[in-house]
Amino acid sequence: MSRSLRIAVYPGDGIGPEVTAQAVRVLLGLAQNSDVTFALTELPWGINYWKQHGRVVPDDFLEVLRPFDAILLGAVGWPELLPDYETLAPLVQIRQTFDQYACVRPAKLYPGLKSVLAGKGPADIDIVVIRENSEGEYVDNGGRLKRGTPDEVAIQTALHTRRGIERILRYGFALARKRRKKLTMATKSNAQRYAYGLWDEVLAELAPQFPDVESERQHCDALVMNFVRWPERFDVVVASNLFGDLLTDLGGVLGGGLGLAPSTNTNPERSFPSMFEPVHGSAPDIAGKGIANPIAAILSVSMMLDHLELPSLAERVRKAVEKTLSGGAKTPDLGGKLTTEQVGDAVLANL
Ligand code: NAI
Ligand code: MG
Repeated sequence: MSRSLRIAVYPGDGIGPEVTAQAVRVLLGLAQNSDVTFALTELPWGINYWKQHGRVVPDDFLEVLRPFDAILLGAVGWPELLPDYETLAPLVQIRQTFDQYACVRPAKLYPGLKSVLAGKGPADIDIVVIRENSEGEYVDNGGRLKRGTPDEVAIQTALHTRRGIERILRYGFALARKRRKKLTMATKSNAQRYAYGLWDEVLAELAPQFPDVESERQHCDALVMNFVRWPERFDVVVASNLFGDLLTDLGGVLGGGLGLAPSTNTNPERSFPSMFEPVHGSAPDIAGKGIANPIAAILSVSMMLDHLELPSLAERVRKAVEKTLSGGAKTPDLGGKLTTEQVGDAVLANL
């Protein structure tokens, strides 16, 4: 059965367009000799759009994106020209409007790369962190009183809902089932008994429904330490918005660095398009030099293909990346000499 999928491509700023170009080449390369076609629509949004129109996206950008099957994002931001809260605001709106509540970030060390952890190799580092992406500590809820005075007060209140916790844990259990069948939940109920007390309770209620998955909870401070000491003990890790943010930066470096780390903003119910992007930003320091590592963007394509229920295509991308890295084709961030495009060539050749 042939399928045609509509993909919105939002390359963004800085190295965003450079790495996205390679991700798109890989996607189109896969479509050759396959019964799947990808109808790509490139959206010229970001800093250049802002220079012409005074805003980074058109007013109706959410309506433009809504009909697509998925969104492939590069990176946005150019702090010298425009404050980050303006360039990044549309991303937050996309995540919220399209209820992309699962942010999935694998931390996998590919063969051919050296770990930052002494004595740990690819067999030890294969973790997926699932960050709750819609509530928790990052809801915009608070205020400031008596500004600028010695009596100034700032209040920022986190928001955790039973529904939000349950759906992210269910997503984690389902993923663990497809992997090594272990789930670790980040908690901090020893110090935050209301919020993380609820997380603990929901985990205890759900665990019996997934008897084939071994589940546990760890306080987040111990968890970061254990990521470094014993990465091999982790499979799927589910965390709140803030804890997930912290754990995924650590996970990114365990997996070989920012140039390699892919990410999703998933709406598991598929009521809305999900968005796939590298973890890294627009890297103004290396933009335009042609040396950005395109692997994070290319692996984001593989995560998009998994979400679109094309697992064999997704696996082909991962295998091609594995072959590319173990064959030594690397950009300067990994100690290599190749350009962004040359690494793209190598991945395409290995497809
Ligand atoms: P960054 O991730 O852009 O760069 C951090 C460091 O890593 C830089 O030295 C950069 O050269 C390097 N780096 C990042 N990606 C790389 C790649 N693919 N290959 C080789 N080296 C790479 O983070 P930074 O500098 O804090 O932020 C730059 C801009 O990106 C800001 O405007 C920030 O707000 C934005 N940003 C956007 C994100 C998004 O679009 N989702 C996510 C993170 C940051
Ligand atoms: Mg972060």
